[in-house]
Amino acid sequence: MIIKDKINKVITDMKPSGIRKFFDLVAQMPEAISLGVGEPDFVTPWHIRDAGIYSLEKGHTYYTSNSGLASLREEICNYLDRRFNLKYNYKNEVLVTVGGSEAIDLTIRALISNGDEVLIPQPSFVCYVPCVQMAGGVPVPIVTKEEDNFKLTPEALKKAITPKTKLLVLPYPNNPTGAIMTYDELKAIVDVLKDTDIFVMSDEIYAELTYGTKHRSIAEFPEMRDRTILVSGFSKAYAMTGWRLGYVCAHPDIIAPLTKIHQYAIMSSPTVSQYAALEAVKKGDNDIDAMVSEYNYRRKVIFEAFNQIGLECFEPLGAFYVFPSIKSTGMKSNDFCENLLKEQKVAVVPGDAFGESGEGYIRCSYAYSIEAINRALDRIDKFVSSHK
Ligand SMILES: Cc1ncc(COP(=O)(O)O)c(C=O)c1O
Repeated sequence: MIIKDKINKVITDMKPSGIRKFFDLVAQMPEAISLGVGEPDFVTPWHIRDAGIYSLEKGHTYYTSNSGLASLREEICNYLDRRFNLKYNYKNEVLVTVGGSEAIDLTIRALISNGDEVLIPQPSFVCYVPCVQMAGGVPVPIVTKEEDNFKLTPEALKKAITPKTKLLVLPYPNNPTGAIMTYDELKAIVDVLKDTDIFVMSDEIYAELTYGTKHRSIAEFPEMRDRTILVSGFSKAYAMTGWRLGYVCAHPDIIAPLTKIHQYAIMSSPTVSQYAALEAVKKGDNDIDAMVSEYNYRRKVIFEAFNQIGLECFEPLGAFYVFPSIKSTGMKSNDFCENLLKEQKVAVVPGDAFGESGEGYIRCSYAYSIEAINRALDRIDKFVSSHK
């Protein structure tokens, strides 16, 4: 028997993540500087870690309810109301998940079946397309352009809609471009959607990380509230990637089927992480402010440096990535990244890892120390000069 031939063909045909490939290369090169990974360099604030430790001391080592601790769900709702003016009922409109990643997977699995089309603005996070494929749906990329500041435009959305469109992924603040959508820009999207039956999965995992402009959610619009599935989590805003905790908020008729899948696949999210997250949503606002202020400083440094180096860069207003164009070098994204790693030992991610339309760009994370960023920028400058 050839085991490989027995594997589900959808999985066999799926491309491995382009981010992971560079991650693996860097792991074999300890002297390399990485701007490759989308994860805060900060350790989780102490009072949040302490709450996790204390929960273990108290013996909270059991499953929680499938939906997550009621106290955590209640505080998530208080937090969303306080920070983003979003109103959810903790009893039946919130599910605590294993990272935003599980929330995305559950949403797509619950809504999508054979042949349903899912609109995915790209460049965007790597998991949307494979999740849609695993659910038997059809991913339909919508190219967002640098001249539109990588925002989803109502014209592009209108063009992509067909009678089979079931779901729009709204990935803002955006990984990898750092683009955000303002209230007026969301309003234009709502005007296109309001007379359709299309659902929106709004991935707002970077909602807290915006610079100068407060994040707005499409769920604020009354006509969208009941068909928006809001995905968020603790990884980015609170530097809690390893705790694996996220959540999803939506109408009770959407949360119920998501909870059904979660109940069979996961049971309940990690209990220790839920206690830590409870402390984070209750008392972590100042931690977020401090980290955002540091990211903002790094953002300005890296944005200006890329433009000086001659790699034109759109100004990111959210998340912690810059997405400079490398078209002036004449290299393909993948060649640029491989050569940069070989010649100058700096790891960044090729833009096409986030969809074909990312070709001609690279993603650099500024969730690294300013020293690492400056050293990497010097080396990138040398690399670009040597290839003129
Ligand atoms: C846009 C976006 N959504 C969701 C996630 C998933 O985050 P997590 O599963 O750690 O909450 C990430 C992680 O990089 C991301 O960039």
